[in-house]
Amino acid sequence: MSSVLPRAGSRGFFLTFEGPDGSGKSTQLRKLAAHLEATGHSVVVTRQPGGTHVGDRIRAILLDSQTEKLASMTELGLMFSDRAQAIAEVIRPALDQGRIVLCDRYTDSTEAYQGGGRQLGSDVVLRMHGMMCGGLQPDLTILLLADFDRSLARARRRNDRTAAFAPNEGRFESENRDFHRRVYLKYREIAAREPGRVFVIEGDQPIDAIHQQILALVDQKLRALAAVS
Ligand code: ADP
Ligand code: TYD
Repeated sequence: MSSVLPRAGSRGFFLTFEGPDGSGKSTQLRKLAAHLEATGHSVVVTRQPGGTHVGDRIRAILLDSQTEKLASMTELGLMFSDRAQAIAEVIRPALDQGRIVLCDRYTDSTEAYQGGGRQLGSDVVLRMHGMMCGGLQPDLTILLLADFDRSLARARRRNDRTAAFAPNEGRFESENRDFHRRVYLKYREIAAREPGRVFVIEGDQPIDAIHQQILALVDQKLRALAAVS
């Protein structure tokens, strides 16, 4: 495979990273962004919740472990409010400029965490996606599924390390095992339902091995898009 990936084309390219807490999304996103930038692509990196001024304020409410009594439907509404803002302010404009957008989490997270974890179900999440996001779907979703206990332990260690200089963002990580098990199973369900968009990568491999698999997938998708545009 050539290390210079094909251009994104005039309609841009929207790639999301998904997976449970600590599965390695941010690590892989950073490596992919660095590779793409080094090979001359115009890349926008963002994350959800957050990534805009309004979104960062919503993120603080959602992730702060001091936030109490947040109803599940409020949580769901805030996730989609954050996303609608990110689409309007960051994602749509970048795609319209033909850029590559790399987003750490998107609607699959809402389906997994609020639909699965909070047991609101997929249906309400997918209907809200239609209304709040105009149905905007990623061209490609990389779903990192590492061993369930190991990834949770990694996320908790990382939060402990950053707790001294960053806000406490442990509200979801402190949920119990059953919650995280439901998140994991819902991710598997999404991948089985949408095999053309969602690619599962075994997250327990070395970081570089995962990176190579991601490069191959991105190369394949960009070529396919270039062929039709
Ligand atoms: P996420 O964004 O999914 O929460 P991170 O990329 O922040 O995950 O990774 C969580 C922790 O696990 C970090 O300390 C990171 O260095 C480490 N890590 C990431 N990928 C791997 C991997 N493939 N093997 C071992 N450790 C990893
Ligand atoms: P973040 O630090 O971005 O994720 P990670 O721990 O994987 O690096 O935290 C975001 C948290 O918000 C994460 O626990 C998943 C949760 N979340 C939802 O519950 N629903 C959503 O729609 C999104 C985008 C995130």
